[in-house]
Amino acid sequence: MNKEEFYNLLKARRSIRKYKKDPVPKEVLERIFAAAMEAPSGKNRQNWRFYVVQGEKRDEYLKYSQKSWLGIKDILQQRLKPSLYAFTERFFFTLGDAPVLVFAYSHNDAEERYHTSIGSVYMAVENMNLACFVEGLGCCTMGAPLEIKSEVDQFLGVDQLPEYQRGELELLCGIVIGYPDHEPPKAPRQHEGRVTWLK
Ligand SMILES: Cc1cc2nc3c(=O)[nH]c(=O)nc-3n(C[C@H](O)[C@H](O)[C@H](O)COP(=O)(O)O)c2cc1C
Repeated sequence: MNKEEFYNLLKARRSIRKYKKDPVPKEVLERIFAAAMEAPSGKNRQNWRFYVVQGEKRDEYLKYSQKSWLGIKDILQQRLKPSLYAFTERFFFTLGDAPVLVFAYSHNDAEERYHTSIGSVYMAVENMNLACFVEGLGCCTMGAPLEIKSEVDQFLGVDQLPEYQRGELELLCGIVIGYPDHEPPKAPRQHEGRVTWLK
């Protein structure tokens, strides 16, 4: 891949919220997780932990997704145009028919600063976003599961793990994955005021 292709890849990636029902082959998902784990991490602790949900368990999660919508719908109603609000509501109710859900956790411990641990996991999540794109898949990173964090922990059985019980395992986001069934416009970017050059 040359320089131009790399920058074009970053520009072309976008969040997908409508998917074909086609399953994603396991070897493709394995490549996506391998890409995730190429990410840098504080002290190379590789503190990302991923939980993959498909099939009936994925269908079962829909009621949790619907519940997470209740936590954010009021803010979105003020911020989004009515048509986009309705589309987003539908996305939360159906997860856009995506066949694969991934939940990304951080294993935090006293050896690393909290924010460094969190940032490391998000670097892996961005690698997943890009790997999905080159695989012809779409994805949408979702903070919404944090609205019902402890319920998601129980749903996945993560709450039974000793590291969770020691308070070290924390849900950071969901990632919805599948083959895209729409081509949304790229959300505009604002560069103004984001970078300060000191003289
Ligand atoms: C940490 C994080 C949390 C997000 N949470 C949600 C979410 O809960 N629901 C959703 O539809 N999109 C969510 N998104 C996607 C953003 O809305 C999207 O990235 C942003 O609008 C820019 O659009 P783009 O990804 O198409 O470039 C999230 C993205 C990030 C990075």
